[in-house]
Amino acid sequence: MKLSFFFIVLYMGAVRSEMFTSYEEMKRLADSQHQVAEHLSNFVEFCDKRLNIAKKIVGEFKKFSQESSKQTNIVGNPVNAFLLIKLMVKDLQNFVDSLNTMDELKKFVRDIKEDVFLPDNEDYEGVIKAMHRLEDTYLIQPNDIRLGNLKTQHPSRPLSAFECFELGRIAYENKDYYHAVRWMNESLVQLEIEGDSPSVSLVQVLDYYAFTTAKQGNIKHALDLTKKLVSIEPDHERARYNIDYFEKELKDYKKKLQGELGDPLDLSINPYIFKNPRPEHALGLERDVYEALCRGDPIPGKVSKNLYCRYASYHPMLKIAPVKEELINDNPKIWLYHEIITENQIEIMKNLARPKLKRAIVRSPITGQYETAEYRISKSGWLTDNEHPTLRFLTSLLGAVTNLSMSTAEEWQIANYGIGGQYEPHFDFARKSDPGDAFGTEIGNRIATWLFYLDSPEVGGATVFPPIGIRVNPIRRSAAFWYNLYPSGDGDYRTRHAACPVLFGTKWVSNKWIHMVGQEFLRKCNLKREDSPEVDY
Ligand SMILES: *[C@@H]1O[C@H](CO)[C@@H](O)[C@H](O)[C@H]1NC(C)=O
Ligand SMILES: *[C@@H]1O[C@H](CO)[C@@H](O)[C@H](O)[C@H]1NC(C)=O
Repeated sequence: MKLSFFFIVLYMGAVRSEMFTSYEEMKRLADSQHQVAEHLSNFVEFCDKRLNIAKKIVGEFKKFSQESSKQTNIVGNPVNAFLLIKLMVKDLQNFVDSLNTMDELKKFVRDIKEDVFLPDNEDYEGVIKAMHRLEDTYLIQPNDIRLGNLKTQHPSRPLSAFECFELGRIAYENKDYYHAVRWMNESLVQLEIEGDSPSVSLVQVLDYYAFTTAKQGNIKHALDLTKKLVSIEPDHERARYNIDYFEKELKDYKKKLQGELGDPLDLSINPYIFKNPRPEHALGLERDVYEALCRGDPIPGKVSKNLYCRYASYHPMLKIAPVKEELINDNPKIWLYHEIITENQIEIMKNLARPKLKRAIVRSPITGQYETAEYRISKSGWLTDNEHPTLRFLTSLLGAVTNLSMSTAEEWQIANYGIGGQYEPHFDFARKSDPGDAFGTEIGNRIATWLFYLDSPEVGGATVFPPIGIRVNPIRRSAAFWYNLYPSGDGDYRTRHAACPVLFGTKWVSNKWIHMVGQEFLRKCNLKREDSPEVDY
């Protein structure tokens, strides 16, 4: 059965800039806010001046008409004639001419349009989608967002009903009826509170709410909302039509219950019972594990007795300054190195990367082309060792710590995550099913991943491994390291990992992918090839 009730036609603009994808650009935006405020206050001053002149002229005209109602033929007096003409020539026309040039207005428009770094519709939609993602991952209720109840060092003010409505409207426009229902409901709750000075029209909220809840299968709920709408605006044609439609749907359902209609009955879509299912996701069930790990929910599992913590100095480079090495998972091995990069080195990396940050792209499994994707939201840039001695030093430190050759390793990739910034579960190595010859025979596949944490976000941003239930907290100055391939060179599917969305604060990471070629004598094959099922996720 197809739903065919009606709704408003929508318009969406699309320009790319995506500031929300990186904290660095959001900071720039916070700065441009001062600029905008200054331009606006200049504009207000300009308008104020004109307004005062206009009011004065109005006052003069009023005086004249008062006088002329008292004495007929007022302009018989040449002085009055002079004053009236002066008022019209000098005061009024000068004023109108001064409006006509409009230089100030043009300057204002130019200032706002060209001089200031402004977000656009894309950013607006992006930041709202990011908030929805955070609701899901960290189980945040719209209620707590509306009231500004989130527990953070950086509190926010409560939201108006209009702002709640917007959070729902953007979801609706993206056919995300789950979040649309949540936020239209929240907007209604807030409208109650706003009473006589509503920030959005109740009719409009009811209209969207009824449509989206019907889309979720809640026909009875939609009917009630639409009836409420019609009680406020009896001439609302489309709503009246929808009422008939919903009533018929409910009647059909009852008939079906009584076996009067032929179709088999699908009890999962009872139109009387309120439900608001989350949309299906490409990750399927893995999404639940991913999100639970991101939240830090306890994941049942055995803790290996082989885990350890030590000062490691197995390489000459580490003799003077041993590294704090912790093995956090035994099979596959994942190491964590504490305080392995200095504040100074972190600043050097960030400063070199800042001008290079671009929206991260991923290789499409279908076309093999690189493109931006919803599931990878960050800005990143690449640095070569030639750009700074510190980078060269860090690369050789990696060589010492990992016992691997850096001769075929990739450049440094630096990434900065913004609001809700994330990278959903993925493999770092190229799989046999990937299109094309991903890395070629010159460097081979990505044998291992090194990941520096250049910041600790206040909440969120962990690195998680869903297949093995491991979560690595991003702690400034530490680094994680793991092998993506078995010694045989086969991909280790257990290393599928993700970067959780950042909830509060900022996340910077820097990673280096180390390749197969050059490691032949450093990491030898086992005598027996490991079992590595090519499970496709
Ligand atoms: C509507 O919002 C209120 C307040 O946040 C909440 O208690 C209620 O469960 C919500 N109802 C729905 C259907 O989402
Ligand atoms: C490097 O080799 C040393 C011993 O030679 C070993 O203790 C250490 O765990 C190795 N490091 C890694 C990351 O494999």
